[in-house]
Amino acid sequence: MTKVTIENVKAREVFDSRGNPTVEADVILSNGVLGRASVPSGKSTGDNEAVELRDGGDRLGGKGVLKAVNNVNTLINDKLKGADPFNQAHIDQMMIDLDGTPNKAKLGANAILGVSIATVRAAANAEGIPVYRYLGGVDLELPQTFHNVINGGEHADNGIDMQEFLITPIKRTTFRDGFEKIVNVYHQLKKNLEKEGYQTGLGDEGGFAPDLPSSEAAIDELNRAIKDAGYVPGEEIGIAFDAAASSFAQDDGSYLFEGKKRSAEEMGTYYEGLLDKYPAIVSMEDPFGENDWDNFAKFTQKNGNRVQIITDDNVCTNPALFRKAIKKGMANSFLIKLNQIGTVSETMEAIRVARKNGYTTMMSHRSGETEDSFLADFTVAMHAEQLKSGAPARGERLAKYNQLLRIEEELGKESNLAHFPNDVDFD
Ligand code: PGA
Ligand code: ZN
Repeated sequence: MTKVTIENVKAREVFDSRGNPTVEADVILSNGVLGRASVPSGKSTGDNEAVELRDGGDRLGGKGVLKAVNNVNTLINDKLKGADPFNQAHIDQMMIDLDGTPNKAKLGANAILGVSIATVRAAANAEGIPVYRYLGGVDLELPQTFHNVINGGEHADNGIDMQEFLITPIKRTTFRDGFEKIVNVYHQLKKNLEKEGYQTGLGDEGGFAPDLPSSEAAIDELNRAIKDAGYVPGEEIGIAFDAAASSFAQDDGSYLFEGKKRSAEEMGTYYEGLLDKYPAIVSMEDPFGENDWDNFAKFTQKNGNRVQIITDDNVCTNPALFRKAIKKGMANSFLIKLNQIGTVSETMEAIRVARKNGYTTMMSHRSGETEDSFLADFTVAMHAEQLKSGAPARGERLAKYNQLLRIEEELGKESNLAHFPNDVDFD
């Protein structure tokens, strides 16, 4: 049998859920098999994220990605032609070496990630197996999902300072069962907001974007909607939030939160108050800004045994930064975003580092997404415990959840279901 190799790599500019240009890459193998992938884009990005190469200039507000597309069509194509598509680590390393910068600034992480994922797809297609099976073998798990049903911060035009208010199905018999519960709460929340006279237009991640008076009011709405839908908060449905505190952190180390300048200590006391008042809160993300490692670590030492504390903007799916955070005792969980680091292999390394050190991981979409559902397969393959991919609304969000429903159906009795927080001990 002749060896299958990469024949051709090419890319095009397509558009994401915010109407911004993004990269779609094709990897075509010598046997004619195609793998295709498109790349998401964040808004509340961390300083240490790999570089998303944009064209600048006048066209499409400077957000065009034709330079990245061209890098795929020329430099990357020349390099990968004839390479083994089943050696993912080698493919990714060749692109990292070709780029030669520490943050993928030359070729663009958007160019590199598009090709990295398209290679996985092409290899899986050539084997005639689904992506989750190609990457995960027989150790597969349907994740605990977190659904951002009220959008604030930089994802919505309302006055809520925190970015995401999420619900998660704790008690569930199947993935589908949990998802149906979330859908019920989502519809209940809409009814409640309408009754109270709030707008129910959607934010970037499919959650409602009502102009609520405060972040606590948003958490209160979730608590109420869970109850009104007939579930017990904290027992059947849990609550989580992503403060994305970098977006209201000030240069002098204080936080401009809800109209008042507050010290990090005051923010800590505020969060502790929320945890005391709403025992249904099982997870929180980025309570402090990305340069505030000391206060983040202090808060974790005090509260890390009662709640999952995720860091996202501080560590940007970067294995080296994960190691630094672990040494410092910052957070007890890491957010994982493929495009923050830029290749599938490095994302896997980051997950490995987290696991070996007892940190939980939550896989994540970006606020700017496409219809690509790779994230769903990747999460199942990595038995990644947790996934956040927005509300059960908007096609680009549903693309991931509907794929998880299909995967559960395909796996049948083989399905394993993550149980958070019950199977995690933070002590
Ligand atoms: P982003 O938001 O995709 O806009 O960065 C997601 C997050 O902060 O978790
Ligand atoms: Zn975040």
